[in-house]
Amino acid sequence: MPGVVIKTLTKRYGDVAAVESLSLDVKPGELVSLLGPSGCGKTTTLRLVAGFLQPEIGEIWVGERCLSSPTSVVPPERRRMAMIFQSYALWPHMTVAQNVAYGLRFKAGVSRVDRDRRVVEMLRIVQLAGFESRYPGELSGGQQQRVAVARALVVEPEILLLDEPLSNLDANLREEMRFEIRRLHESFGITTLYVTHDQAEAMVISDRVAVLHRGRVVQVGTAEDLFRRPRTRFVAEFIGRTNLLDAVAAEPGVATRGALRLRLASHGMAPGAPVVISIRPHEIEPVVPSRAAPAGANILAATVQRTSYLGDAVDYHMQVNGSDVVLRVTTPPPARFGGGDAVTLAVAPEACVPLTGSDDDGR
Ligand SMILES: Nc1ncnc2c1ncn2[C@@H]1O[C@H](COP(=O)(O)OP(=O)(O)O)[C@@H](O)[C@H]1O
Ligand SMILES: [Mg+2]
Repeated sequence: MPGVVIKTLTKRYGDVAAVESLSLDVKPGELVSLLGPSGCGKTTTLRLVAGFLQPEIGEIWVGERCLSSPTSVVPPERRRMAMIFQSYALWPHMTVAQNVAYGLRFKAGVSRVDRDRRVVEMLRIVQLAGFESRYPGELSGGQQQRVAVARALVVEPEILLLDEPLSNLDANLREEMRFEIRRLHESFGITTLYVTHDQAEAMVISDRVAVLHRGRVVQVGTAEDLFRRPRTRFVAEFIGRTNLLDAVAAEPGVATRGALRLRLASHGMAPGAPVVISIRPHEIEPVVPSRAAPAGANILAATVQRTSYLGDAVDYHMQVNGSDVVLRVTTPPPARFGGGDAVTLAVAPEACVPLTGSDDDGR
């Protein structure tokens, strides 16, 4: 089974680069998500890989096959890929079975008996056995989505491309279908590029996530890598909530902001250099007065500004005394502090992550 290698892909519309010098390496059998806000170039990237669009610059490789380079282009129907669209694009006048069988009509060497057998088998896998003679209009959104998945998988593609396939479903079903997509990926193991703007969806479904910003990949990693070790401000803010502090590097492993001194997760910044520090709200721990603060932690005296009870968590705004810094702090319930309370906060150095990359790298 092949992987996909994308090298410095660039696609412009007029003066605007929808995709700019984008490189990405998807290993054989891996599911990688392209994650980013609307307009960052996700769909354009997928359409370039599928061959529906031509890049100005760059190469696309599947295993040993070069599909696209400045000198040669393989047409979409010969790329051995299947794509699933947000709209599903089912044929309304065809039954479920006919929709799924459709892709196989163009595949050489598949007999009618073989085709029928594969359609039945695929509908069983996506849990639609018994729906063969229904029309798409007689199915729920989730069932239509499963038909689209079955139609893509029945042709046994080498590469599967999915463009926001869950975004037309209501919230509960969308959450459930994440696990369904992941289950199908684990049973088929097809190398997959999955596009979404939903960070939780990307984190559940993917082996690795590539965060896109203005047509570029700013960071690639597992969900945990991106959450715990974001490289840039954009990644830190896009993957979960965080506190960002503009500070200045001091001696190795320390940054300051006014009178505030923080020991950090890493060293190696030049003294005097500006640095942005990311601290996740749940990594800031109000210290219970009767207990000692954790050894080695940064200790901050703060005053509670606001307490919000969220059911499964409590969210505080806490002003760090003697500074203009207001930190978001999340704890398990119940709420232990109210407005005006004085609290001591402990933050481990490992939780103070300096963001050393720039979102405008190479620009
Ligand atoms: N056919 C097109 N003509 C002009 N601009 C386009 C076209 N397709 C996409 N774009 C622009 O390219 C950028 C990336 O679009 P797209 O890849 O659709 O983003 P995403 O899928 O991440 O929302 C956007 O600024 C969009 O307006
Ligand atoms: Mg899109």
